[in-house]
Amino acid sequence: MTIKVAILGFGTVGEGVWETLHTHHEYIQKKLSTPIEITSILVKDSNKKRNLPDSVQVTTDIEEVFQQPVDVVLEAIVGKQPAYQYVTRAIEHGAHVITANKEMFAHYGPHLLELAKEHNVWIGYEATTAGGTPVIRTIDQMLQVNQIKSIQGIVNGTSNYILTQMTKHQNSFEDALLAAQQKGYAEADPSNDVDGYDAFYKAMILSQLAYQDQPNWDEVYLEGIRTISSQDIDKATIQGQKWKHVATIELRHGAPRASIQPMQLNEDHPLYNIDGVENALSIQTDLLGSITLSGPGAGKLPTASAMIEDLLYVFQKERQQEAQYV
Ligand SMILES: NC(=O)c1ccc[n+]([C@@H]2O[C@H](COP(=O)([O-])OP(=O)(O)OC[C@H]3O[C@@H](n4cnc5c(N)ncnc54)[C@H](OP(=O)(O)O)[C@@H]3O)[C@@H](O)[C@H]2O)c1
Repeated sequence: MTIKVAILGFGTVGEGVWETLHTHHEYIQKKLSTPIEITSILVKDSNKKRNLPDSVQVTTDIEEVFQQPVDVVLEAIVGKQPAYQYVTRAIEHGAHVITANKEMFAHYGPHLLELAKEHNVWIGYEATTAGGTPVIRTIDQMLQVNQIKSIQGIVNGTSNYILTQMTKHQNSFEDALLAAQQKGYAEADPSNDVDGYDAFYKAMILSQLAYQDQPNWDEVYLEGIRTISSQDIDKATIQGQKWKHVATIELRHGAPRASIQPMQLNEDHPLYNIDGVENALSIQTDLLGSITLSGPGAGKLPTASAMIEDLLYVFQKERQQEAQYV
């Protein structure tokens, strides 16, 4: 049997997935004991020049993707729609879904997880939160008995880079943002990052995972980093503190609550030393106490890594289940 893969979106992440499936081809095949075949790649603009062999089917029509057998769809499109419609289509087709799309998954994750259960397929979403750093699977599978009391995270690398530049190099917000844009960490329109929306989506995904529920979105306090001035940074430095953009998710009176806002952290806070584009989550649990996971929060290969780890996981799990029924 060959595992048939469709890639939806061929930008930074989609291309990283394609490349990694090739550079790590032999290793993946050995791990799964079966070859992988990329059957098609879905894009928006068919006229764009792509670094792809002619033999690969590149299409703008989702129906063409499903005109052939597809075992798993790797989705790396931007925004809620049509990504939601496409992954719904994939699940109904009987394909597993692995997504990097945090905006889509924050909005529709609960429904998609239900739909996947009905269709006996699996959804991997490790890449939506903290890039390649394996926070989702750690919470999902390694903290099953532990009750999660709260999660605090630096989950937006661009904001963290800007605050780090302002702290370490006394840059103004504008200069630090420009440096982030020049390094490719920030988009030309940086509002998704600096106004906190990206961190908000990730916080909602974490809440769904940790508490099987999300807070009412209207009740989540959301503040980005534009309000932090050089004077604020200097004052914090004098007090031995650092400004960090922190997403907090916790259970209060049995219901999940969240806030996403700049906070002054003391030196002994687990997130104090998370600098630059790095991401980290500090998880408070009842049995284990506090654990902190840190690592790359974005980028072509870290994000592709998370998606392909999900891919290996789902097919290995499928094999184990099949073996049980033999
Ligand atoms: N970049 C990262 O480091 C990172 C990290 C974690 C998660 N993510 C998430 O991963 C997703 C992809 O990010 P990216 O950085 O790879 O974005 P990107 O470079 O802008 O690429 C987006 C891709 O999606 C395709 N696309 C857009 N609208 C489409 C439509 N209506 N139908 C079909 N294809 C469509 C685009 O097609 P064209 O090529 O034809 O324009 C492009 O190939 C996003 O949801 C993002 O939040 C990104």
